[in-house]
Amino acid sequence: MKKSATILVSGGAGYIGSHTVWYLNQLGYRTIVFDNLSTGFRQDMLGDVNRIGDLQNPWDLKRLFLQEPIDAVIHFAANIAVGESVKEPLKYYRNNTVSLVNLLETMQASGVKKLVFSSTAAVYGNPVLCPISEDAPIAPVNPYGHSKAWGEQMLRDCASAYGMDFVALRYFNACGKAPATHLGEKHDPETHLIPLVLDAVAGRRPPLKVFGNDYNTLDGTCIRDYVHVLDLAQAHELALQKMGDGGSFSAFNLGNGQGHSVLEVIRAVEEICQKPVPFEFAARREGDPAVLVASSAKAKEKLGWKPKFESLQSIIKTLVQ
Ligand code: UFG
Repeated sequence: MKKSATILVSGGAGYIGSHTVWYLNQLGYRTIVFDNLSTGFRQDMLGDVNRIGDLQNPWDLKRLFLQEPIDAVIHFAANIAVGESVKEPLKYYRNNTVSLVNLLETMQASGVKKLVFSSTAAVYGNPVLCPISEDAPIAPVNPYGHSKAWGEQMLRDCASAYGMDFVALRYFNACGKAPATHLGEKHDPETHLIPLVLDAVAGRRPPLKVFGNDYNTLDGTCIRDYVHVLDLAQAHELALQKMGDGGSFSAFNLGNGQGHSVLEVIRAVEEICQKPVPFEFAARREGDPAVLVASSAKAKEKLGWKPKFESLQSIIKTLVQ
């Protein structure tokens, strides 16, 4: 795909979406952001074209595809909070699964055949082996994970039925920000660990609650694989470049291959900020697997993915400059 291609980015006003648009713009792509601003931010819409519209409204989509020449789609728009998905599963099935049906129908009708899909480590549930490779069983343990696993299945089916091409990128824990930009992680409410730890250390919130210290891990707290948002952005562009030529589906894990416990994240922030992080232990959060660590060997080999922020420290430093 040419670097001047037009890329539609659904959810391009959100955290990973806006960083990816920023990254694509640097490379010369023409970007169209489409977002309903339910969780994204107007000021983070950095597309050459910015449209406020809803994937639930087929007319918003049809109009867009009629008016703009689109070469490929990157589909971020979704709800992403594991805990919320346990309490409100239908919200996840509507916004993550039904919305994808609408998008695929419009693409199919308009002859747009390439899409990169925001997937997640949550499709693996409680993995038996870590690091997790792409052929590990798909066994989600929460509605968020189910909504994404079903999305992937739809893509597999549409690839063969309609000769479309798809790449699903299974992110582990996205974090960090593009230095010297106003972009960043600002979910409302914020549920993600690193921004909450930074708020706690700065005294912007009450002490952090560490959800569970009785997991079967070295220090009893959950282990995750933290990956920088610009490294994720890089993988999307590589996926556009390496996408198949009719009827293909492939999935790639994106993580750094290193697990960090919640207490290790707290210590890393304390070291960088030279201040204690106030925290207390609390009950486990429903739907949380104990350990999620990626093997990203396939993305490195097949996409040529080269993460630039490999250590937790280097990722956190992009947030405290
Ligand atoms: N945690 C706390 N206290 C908090 C917030 C989080 O202890 O206040 C813990 C969680 O229990 C978990 C870890 O920090 O063990 C990371 O939690 P996050 O909420 O930051 O991230 P998750 O691992 O729950 O989920 C994220 C994305 C999902 C994605 C998943 C894949 O939100 O979309 O990573 O690993 F599926």
